[in-house]
Amino acid sequence: MLNQRKVIIHTPDEIARIRHAAQLTAIVRDRLAELARPGMTTLEFDQLAGSLIAETGGKSAFLGYQGYPGNICISLNEEVVHGIGRADRIMQPEDIVSIDLGIEINGACGDTAITFGLGAPLSPDVAQLIEVTRRALAAGIARAVPGNYIRDISAAIEAVGRKAGVGVVRDFVGHGCGIRLHEPPEVPNFATASRGPRLVPGMVLAIEPMFNLGTYRVNIDRHDGWTVRTQDGAVSAHFEHMVLITEQEPEILTWPKTT
Ligand code: MF3
Ligand code: CO
Ligand code: CO
Repeated sequence: MLNQRKVIIHTPDEIARIRHAAQLTAIVRDRLAELARPGMTTLEFDQLAGSLIAETGGKSAFLGYQGYPGNICISLNEEVVHGIGRADRIMQPEDIVSIDLGIEINGACGDTAITFGLGAPLSPDVAQLIEVTRRALAAGIARAVPGNYIRDISAAIEAVGRKAGVGVVRDFVGHGCGIRLHEPPEVPNFATASRGPRLVPGMVLAIEPMFNLGTYRVNIDRHDGWTVRTQDGAVSAHFEHMVLITEQEPEILTWPKTT
C-alpha cells in the first residue's frame, strides 16, 4: 500500500516530457483500436502494438514491469485488466476488447486504456456498460482541480457506477503517473474512509475506472499470475486517461491533440 499522504509534483521540464509520452501513447491507442480485427490472435495484436510503440522511438512501459510478459495488456470480455496476448486466442466479432498501453520515452511515461466492441452489434447492456465507464472517467476528471481531494475524484466515479447499477472494481486503482509508471498517490474508483491528499498543480494522475456488468468481485488467473477476471464471468470495461492538475481546467494528457 502506497503512503496515502505522499504526492509527486512534477516540474515544468518533467511535464513537457510527460505530455509528449502521453500524446504518443494516445496516438498508438487510437491507431490500435482502428487496426483491431476479428481473426487476429491477441498475440499478433500485442506484437503489432510492440511495433507501433517502437516506431514512436519509445519503449513499452509494461514489458518487464514486475515481470509482465506483454507489450500491452489486452483484456477480452470477462477479463478486467492485465490480459496477456496469446497465440491460441483468436479475436471474435462478438468480443469486447480492452487495450491498456504504456510508453516510456525520454525518462517519462504515458498510460492509457480504452474499451470497444470488435464488430458485432453490442447488446444494450454491454453498450451501456461501456458508455457508463467512459462517463465515470469524465466525471472523475471534472473533479481533478486544485483544492479538491483524491476522494472527490473517487466519489464522482463511484456515483456514476452505482447509479447505473454496475459492479465497481475495488481491487485495482488509478495512480500518480509521469516519470515512473506508478507513482503515489493511489486513485481508487470508490470513496474511501480517507480523503487522501489534496490536489495541487503539477500532479499527474492516471484515472482508470473498471466497471463490470455483474459483481465487482474479481480473481487473478492462477496460472499466468496476471489476467484479472470477473468472478461471475460477466463483461467488464476499462478506460484510462492521464490528467495534469493545473490552476485552471484539468489537462487530459492522453487526449490526442489535433494541431
Ligand atoms: N497499465 C496498468 C495501469 O493502468 C498497469 C499495467 S502493469 C503491467 O496501471 F505490468 F501489466 F504492465
Ligand atoms: Co494503464
Ligand atoms: Co494506470
